Amino acid sequence: MAEELIVQKGTREEAYQSLLPQIKALVQGEPDVIANCANIAAALRQTFNFWWVGFYFVSDESELVLGPFQGDIACTRIQKGKGVCGTAWSEKKTIVVEDVEKFPGHIACSAASKSEIVVPILKEGNVIAVLDIDSDVLNDFSEIDKIYLEELALLVSEFIKA
Ligand code: SME
Repeated sequence: MAEELIVQKGTREEAYQSLLPQIKALVQGEPDVIANCANIAAALRQTFNFWWVGFYFVSDESELVLGPFQGDIACTRIQKGKGVCGTAWSEKKTIVVEDVEKFPGHIACSAASKSEIVVPILKEGNVIAVLDIDSDVLNDFSEIDKIYLEELALLVSEFIKA
């Protein structure tokens, strides 16, 4: 497809409904994980203007390592069970944080980040990566984000090798 993203105005749900098919088309037939994750991070940030969007990949059984992202520099490695990312990995579930200051052990990569959502990407029951999104707005993520980002995580799991 042409490298052009149409950003839908309207509700966040309408924006996801427009964005997801475009992302599917964008990654279709492209096997390179870095290229696809880089474009997905960019598409999410371009659409929603989130503070930070990126992937962490499972590096070994104890650590995540930073993958493609959009935003300021961030921590390179996160231990399993630590921070929001490491917790989403160990609990194998999406974590929505309304206020990062109230999440015990939150890893602050930027003082501007106020709320966060982390969605695990699973392959054959194992977490292979997480998608991390930070917002500079408090309580910016809801069930809508969870639903559509989990759908996106399924798509990502199809092109990431276990
Ligand atoms: N806040 C995350 C760390 C990654 S940065 O937000 C990019 C965490 O607590 O795991």
